[in-house]
Amino acid sequence: MAVLVTGGAGYIGSHAVAALQERGEDIVVVDNLQQGHKGALLGGKLYVGDLRDADFLDTVFKENEIDAVIHFAANSLVGESMKLPGKYYHNNVYGTLCLLEKMNEYGVKRIVFSSTAATYGEPESVPIDEYDRTLPTNAYGETKLAMEKMMKWFDVAHDIKYISLRYFNAAGAHDSGRIGEDHHPETHLVPIVLEAALGKRPHISVFGDDYATEDGTCVRDYIHVSDLADAHLLAVDRLRGGADSAVYNLGNGQGFSVKQVIEIARSVTGKEINAVIEPRRAGDPAVLVASSDRARKELGWNPTRSNLENIIGSAWSWHQSNPEGYDDKK
Ligand code: UFG
Repeated sequence: MAVLVTGGAGYIGSHAVAALQERGEDIVVVDNLQQGHKGALLGGKLYVGDLRDADFLDTVFKENEIDAVIHFAANSLVGESMKLPGKYYHNNVYGTLCLLEKMNEYGVKRIVFSSTAATYGEPESVPIDEYDRTLPTNAYGETKLAMEKMMKWFDVAHDIKYISLRYFNAAGAHDSGRIGEDHHPETHLVPIVLEAALGKRPHISVFGDDYATEDGTCVRDYIHVSDLADAHLLAVDRLRGGADSAVYNLGNGQGFSVKQVIEIARSVTGKEINAVIEPRRAGDPAVLVASSDRARKELGWNPTRSNLENIIGSAWSWHQSNPEGYDDKK
């Protein structure tokens, strides 16, 4: 039996494919390569195409014996989602609907879903747990919440069990140094700081230093991408073991401010890294820190790579060896 990984050539998807490969799973990857890179695949049989193409998905489900799906394929830029919500509803929500309908048609009953802390919006209290209010402040988070809710009703009606994993801030790169983060455009803090360290950017812009936090900059919970990948394997195992549907936060439980991230990056890279304070970015909550107790208890998840020096160190190795990212560019 194979695991189907949608969006498997993307940043987090490719790390999950690597982890599945390491434990000898049969892997089928579906990716339209709009964001993903062929060069990011360390395993799996790749089908290039889009979830919204029914004939394409028929081919994938007919040619493979799939028993579980890990669903990453989605657009994920908060800023873009505020300008182009239709793109997010079409690709994320409608794409997921197409996938669930095909899963139902072919009798595939397990799905692990790539969700986000953006489903919570501005938290009422931190650390955030899975029972907290979900009130997204951006269209991206709203579409991910809609996708979770869709899965709930496919469970009720068709017994398709889901585990939704709400990530906090993914960063870092694979231990092998062969895969890492390569987005176009890049909007995430850690890779941007490292691009500044490499001299590819003149400085890092700090978006606001007047938040109600200790140093005035936003606080986030950074989690190593391979720790995230591990959680997907545990979730597949749990569903294969007959568990019920569930939602889990995945974070490290510790918050770091933008200024602290830059400071640690200076020490890890030995580079100066100029920082310039700029206005706040729309839609940024001041503090996002996870309680991942539930994932630790129920999934047996134990993140081991997520101290921030280690996260930034692994990303730095990748950036130094691949300053232009993947050379296939698709
Ligand atoms: N930041 C800067 N300068 C930059 C880039 C980012 O100051 O050049 C700041 C942001 O304002 C934010 C922090 O660094 O305060 C982290 O920003 P990222 O863009 O790296 O990450 P976000 O927290 O905005 O978003 C990430 C994912 C989302 C997900 C969210 C959930 O990209 O998909 O985490 O926590 F929804």
